[in-house]
Amino acid sequence: MNNFFFGIYPYIALSVMIFGSIARYERDPFTWKSSSSQLLRRKQLVLGSILFHVGVLTILVGHVAGLLTPVWIIDALGIGHAFKQVVAMTVGGIAGVMALIGGGMLFHRRWTDPRIRKTSSVADIGILGLLLLQLLLGVSTIFASARHLDGHEMLKFMHWAQGILTFRPDAAAQIADVALIFKLHIVCGLTIFLLFPFTRLVHMLSVPVRYFWRPGYQIVRSRRTTPLPSHSDAEIARAKVASAKAAPAGPRAPSLAE
Ligand code: HEM
Repeated sequence: MNNFFFGIYPYIALSVMIFGSIARYERDPFTWKSSSSQLLRRKQLVLGSILFHVGVLTILVGHVAGLLTPVWIIDALGIGHAFKQVVAMTVGGIAGVMALIGGGMLFHRRWTDPRIRKTSSVADIGILGLLLLQLLLGVSTIFASARHLDGHEMLKFMHWAQGILTFRPDAAAQIADVALIFKLHIVCGLTIFLLFPFTRLVHMLSVPVRYFWRPGYQIVRSRRTTPLPSHSDAEIARAKVASAKAAPAGPRAPSLAE
């Protein structure tokens, strides 16, 4: 059981996430979007979205740095394991509560506004619910971590995560004896990875960072009165006749009685 969830499931989840995302991008590029509902209702979105995104992004950066930095680098930098544990709990805890409040607002908005509810898919509501559950489980791990303030439990998670990424066969054994709350949190996190390509979470891979360095440009309406060279006079005349025929009868159009 432990070997399946922490030795095999991580590879299933990561493979589906990577290859599923590539397949979706190739097959359905027009579904690759955040599906913003800002046009339907702005209320609750701005504050909820900021709290949620700042919280989750802080947690994700913390998780990647905290779990994947090799232990010898942490030691070479002179960062104590107990110190690292307390920083993870404090910064992660504050970010987790922020994300929970923001995510709760976003969920409430999506669930109670009839227009947003109607335009939400099962995946939209489901993934937000799953993220909230994951945040709840994550914040709950803090109480278990508080019993291991020397940081030795955290080392097990680092060995596990780095073991998975380096294909070590004994990776799952590293966390065989940790508290259940950690295991539930990790399985739920892996399930989010697994579902990633089938949800709006894919927009994370398209952060528009290019806006920061793209050359500025401005779209202006041309004042040109002469026709573009690529159109012949005959084509333009035909287009004018067609648009005159298609134009709705206005006050200046001759009526049938005339
Ligand atoms: C497979 C992916 C994930 C793994 C392996 C993982 C692992 C962990 C571990 C080991 C801890 C305890 C850290 C410690 O105190 O020693 C933790 C804490 C936490 N996690 Fe995750 N996590 C994952 C995904 C997520 C996601 C997606 C979220 C948020 C949406 C999240 C939110 C939290 C929070 C709020 C905490 C408590 C604060 C902290 O210690 O940083 N985790 N996670």
